[in-house]
Amino acid sequence: MDRIAITGGYRLEGEIPISGAKNAALPLMCASLLTKDPFILSNLPQLADISTLKLLLKGHGVRAKVLNCGKSLDQGRTISFTTEVITSTVAPYDIVRKMRASILVLGPLLARMGEATVSLPGGCAIGNRPIDLHLKGFEEMGATIELEEGYVRAVAPGGRLKGGNVHFPMISVGATENILMAATLASGTTTIENAAREPEISDLVNCLNAMGANIKGIGTKTLEIVGVDNLHGAEYAVMPDRIEAGSYAIAAAMTRGEIELKGKDLMDAMRGTIGILREAGLRFQETEGGIVATLGTDKVKGINVSTQPYPGFPTDMQAQVMAMMTLCDGASVINETIFENRFMHVPELTRMGADITVHGSTATLRGIDQLLGAPVMATDLRASMSLILAGLVADRQTFVNRIYHLDRGYERLVEKLSAVGAKIIRDANLGI
Ligand code: EPZ
Repeated sequence: MDRIAITGGYRLEGEIPISGAKNAALPLMCASLLTKDPFILSNLPQLADISTLKLLLKGHGVRAKVLNCGKSLDQGRTISFTTEVITSTVAPYDIVRKMRASILVLGPLLARMGEATVSLPGGCAIGNRPIDLHLKGFEEMGATIELEEGYVRAVAPGGRLKGGNVHFPMISVGATENILMAATLASGTTTIENAAREPEISDLVNCLNAMGANIKGIGTKTLEIVGVDNLHGAEYAVMPDRIEAGSYAIAAAMTRGEIELKGKDLMDAMRGTIGILREAGLRFQETEGGIVATLGTDKVKGINVSTQPYPGFPTDMQAQVMAMMTLCDGASVINETIFENRFMHVPELTRMGADITVHGSTATLRGIDQLLGAPVMATDLRASMSLILAGLVADRQTFVNRIYHLDRGYERLVEKLSAVGAKIIRDANLGI
């Protein structure tokens, strides 16, 4: 099993191309089920989750053809997805359990075929991740939902969903995306109230409208979708990954370096993140093709922050900010309000000398002068990035185990960090 070894203490300087956003690409790929026409997505990142979803879509009859394999670091892949016929409406457990975003095929299958049988995704390391809001939304649109042997069996009476008024009692990115896709082909108008407003959802709305959908309210918490009879193909470029960009901005700050994050409209996509990072002392300078990130103060400033739905501070940046706050001037408080178990990086950072106290969903950090290199274990995608960031500034070497978590969301991480001066290698035989 591969490990990553990092020798800390090197200032990072140069350019890092930001890949297409994983959390935009996944729902966009599911949207391919909504049309018989060729549907072309560009700027797709090469990630484990993308490959898992491609496999799942293939089982439904989606033919994927790589039009451009994106050889260079700054080029994503272009893939054409064609679904002339949906050959199966079943999403099997052995794939869904690997990647819970697979649940996003439920809405498109229900919309296109009037039925779907999708394995319950189950929980993951950061929480039990229920899908009750998704299912209630489909019922509001006339679907019948049965749970049998670990599968959700959804049927639209008469073969077509009807427009409904879906109100989410709590904000859910996935539930908003699932209902949004299903509503594009429903008979009548659907409103989604208290919709999630993440930039990845605006990306999905823009793409669906390019396919002939009729969606209003982009970027707001109320979406109105007038159902149409069918959607046509489109060509669409996935937005840049704001979480990857924020992670590398922190790498620049922690190593007192200067990294130009290359990507279109990054500043806009990173709105919910940049405010907090600026509060911690980071500086952002917009350039022709991206943003330059540096630390504008001697030490990272302590902050008090709670994770929130967009445009608040994203939970997907919490572990990375915590790595940075281990070295803050004074103290810092981080409150995780979205997931019930998203502090698994804390014991690993503590092994590296961090001073962190956790009470319930709140972590209090007292800044230290130097992290200590150590063997540590990745437990989930964003926790693994926080350990990489800590290793970049720790003394001696840090060995990060179980980095398959990292492969789910960070494309070509070792290449990108090496290119800006990090001493980082990946190998299965790294001794400890
Ligand atoms: C998406 O997950 C992202 N994943 C997550 O990113 C991200 O952390 C999360 O949104 C929040 O921003 C993708 O986009 C593929 P939610 P999702 O539904 O849609 C509860 C990463 O690291 N909830 O907004 O699953 C849920 O348990 C990943 O890239 C219900 O109770 O998140 C959580 O506490 C991790 N019932 C909260 O809502 C439901 O039916 C927010 O979940 C659905 C959700």
